[in-house]
Amino acid sequence: MKTKLNKIANDTNIFLKKFLNKQNNSKLLPAMKYGLFPGGKKIRSKILIDIGSLLAINYKTLIAIGAAVECIHAYSLIHDDLPCMDNDKIRRGKPSTHIKFGESTAVLAGNSLLTMAFEILASSSLQISEKIKINLIKRLSECSGHLGIAGGQYLDLSYEKKKISKNKIIEMEIKKTGKLFSFCCAAPAIIKKKNTKEIKFFENTGSDIGLLFQIADDLIDFKVSSKVAGKKTGKDQKKGKATLISLLGYMNAIQYCDKIILKTNKNLKRYGSNSKNIKETLNYILHRKK
Ligand code: IPE
Ligand code: IPE
Ligand code: MG
Ligand code: MG
Ligand code: MG
Repeated sequence: MKTKLNKIANDTNIFLKKFLNKQNNSKLLPAMKYGLFPGGKKIRSKILIDIGSLLAINYKTLIAIGAAVECIHAYSLIHDDLPCMDNDKIRRGKPSTHIKFGESTAVLAGNSLLTMAFEILASSSLQISEKIKINLIKRLSECSGHLGIAGGQYLDLSYEKKKISKNKIIEMEIKKTGKLFSFCCAAPAIIKKKNTKEIKFFENTGSDIGLLFQIADDLIDFKVSSKVAGKKTGKDQKKGKATLISLLGYMNAIQYCDKIILKTNKNLKRYGSNSKNIKETLNYILHRKK
């Protein structure tokens, strides 16, 4: 699993470096690269490749789409660490982007990564039909804005130090993290021109995987050391973040994750033997330490 993930991370980084090298230089570029490259797992690209392998999608196409998704992810982390949000000084074992480059540069580098994602999808070197490209761009924008990441981050912050119901916590986690995974699972089905029902199925599968990913991130905050995780842990409790752990307890949160994994594996089995790829990724997501 680790070798496969590293290869995908490497190929995604090569794509992004080439893409950035073709652009004119700017003062924001170092901060953008800092948020994009050192230490990120590129797990969202792995999900795209795993689901893409179920539907026999070309690897290069998936890497390009994964690169776009990783730009949005990097932007969301840069902003998530800002003093007005989670106020975290360490990310991936290094100073957060705003600590290294200053707040205003971090905000602008984040904005630039967000828009770069759409530049990548719109680029003529991505060899899919324009109609499909527009569909992907539309869906990725929806997953990133007020109905996705930004909306979820708003809820995450506004729920601090409040008693929040299980359904509301799940809704918030699906928005802030699940939606981007939802896009990763749906993109291969969209490229393969699957019907609305099947695309919806992959979207829902992605929401579940993203929820699993966020609960696992909350578990890391709960029990992994800051040194191993590469970011400050034990902070969710201090900040009064609403998580399934704070509501249901550690063991129940793990059980909830096991249920998601079981359900997802069962649903994807009918796509054949390549479903072993996503199976190993789900296992990795729950048991990772960073
Ligand atoms: C961390 O995401 C933030 C969440 C959405 C939970 P990752 O754990 O994917 O971050 P990197 O890119 O690997 O550092
Ligand atoms: C971040 O969730 C979700 C995003 C969409 C950025 P967290 O705030 O829990 O992520 P970490 O723990 O700081 O990486
Ligand atoms: Mg946060
Ligand atoms: Mg955070
Ligand atoms: Mg966290």
